[in-house]
Amino acid sequence: MDFKKEIQKLKKELDVAIVAHFYQKDEVFDMADITGDSLELAKRGMAAPQKNIIFCGVGFMGQSLKVLAPEKRVMMPKIACCAMAKMIDVQYFNENLKTLNDAGIKNEDILPITYINSSAEVKAEVGKMGGLVCTSSNAFKIITRGLESGKKIFFVPDRCLGQNFANQMKLKSAVVGIDDIEDVKEADIICFNGFCSVHQLFTTDDIDFYREKYPDILIAVHPECDPAIVDKADFSGSTSQLIKYITEEISPDQKVAVGTEYNMVNRLRPKNTYVLSSTKPECPTMNETVLEDLYNNLLSIKNGTFENEIIIPEETEKYAKIALNRMFEV
Ligand code: 13P
Ligand code: SF4
Repeated sequence: MDFKKEIQKLKKELDVAIVAHFYQKDEVFDMADITGDSLELAKRGMAAPQKNIIFCGVGFMGQSLKVLAPEKRVMMPKIACCAMAKMIDVQYFNENLKTLNDAGIKNEDILPITYINSSAEVKAEVGKMGGLVCTSSNAFKIITRGLESGKKIFFVPDRCLGQNFANQMKLKSAVVGIDDIEDVKEADIICFNGFCSVHQLFTTDDIDFYREKYPDILIAVHPECDPAIVDKADFSGSTSQLIKYITEEISPDQKVAVGTEYNMVNRLRPKNTYVLSSTKPECPTMNETVLEDLYNNLLSIKNGTFENEIIIPEETEKYAKIALNRMFEV
C-alpha cells in the first residue's frame, strides 16, 4: 500500500491535524501539518482549529497537549515512552523528597521544577507543591524565576539539564543519591538522578576527534548532554535553538558537529554538518512511529475506534495543568 498517498487522502477527509517532533523519522515528519520542539508543539497543538490531533512523538508530549487542551481528542500512532521520563514516577519523586526532608530541608523550602519530559502524574505532583514545568527552550528563564522565591530548586528528572543550568548561572548543584548529602544540603539546584540515554552517547573524545580533524569546526550540543560535553562545546541549546544557530546564525560554509538526535541533525542542512558521535544517536522511542502506524491511527478516526487516545484522570489533569500554565505565565 502507498501509505503516503492514503494518509494524504484521509487527512483531507478528516478533521485532524498531524503534529510531529523534530526527532521523528523523515517519512513521518514529512506528513505533519505542525512540526517543532516540545514547547512549540504544545503551543501550536493547542491553537490548532482541528478537534482531532495525531501526535507523532513520545508519550509525555501527547499528554502535555491533552492536559492543556482537554477539549481536543489527542491520539498517538505509538504511545512510546521517553526513556528519561520513565526514570521518575510519583513514588521516586516522593522518596527523593523524603531524603531531602531527612537531611533537614523542609518541603516549604523546596520549589520543584519538572522538565516537560515527565509523566502527567509527576507534573501534577509538582503542581500540588506550587512548582512548575520547563522545557529546554525556557529552562534558564524558569529556573531564574524559581530561584527568586528564595527556595531551593528540586529539578526533575534530567540531572544534566539541572547541572548545566547551575553551571551556566554559577550556582551549586548536586544530585540526590549520587553526591554527598552535605553537598545536596548546600546546593541551589538539587537534581533528580535521571538522564537521556541518547544524549549520554556524546563524549569529550568525540569533540577532540572532530577538533583534531577539522580545527575550525564548531561543536553544538543539546543541554541534555553531560556537563563535560556542554562545557567543551561552542554552543548549547534546545532543539529549536540548535536549528536557529546552525541554519541562521553560522555561515553555510562553517563546519559544525552536532550533539543531538540523529533524525534532526540529518535534515538540518545538506553540507558541513556532522553527527557528534561514532554511534548513530537515534532516540529508540521516537523512532518507533512509522508511516503504517500513522495511517492506522488516521483510519481509526474514520472508523470511530480512536486508537491510542490519550486519557488523563481528572485530578492529574487539574494539577498538571496548573504546573504547565505556571510555565506559560513566566
Ligand atoms: P526539546 O524540548 O528540545 O524538543 O527536547 C525534547 C527532547 O526530548 C530532547 O531529547
Ligand atoms: Fe527522551 Fe532522550 Fe528520546 Fe528526548 S532523546 S525523547 S529525552 S529518550
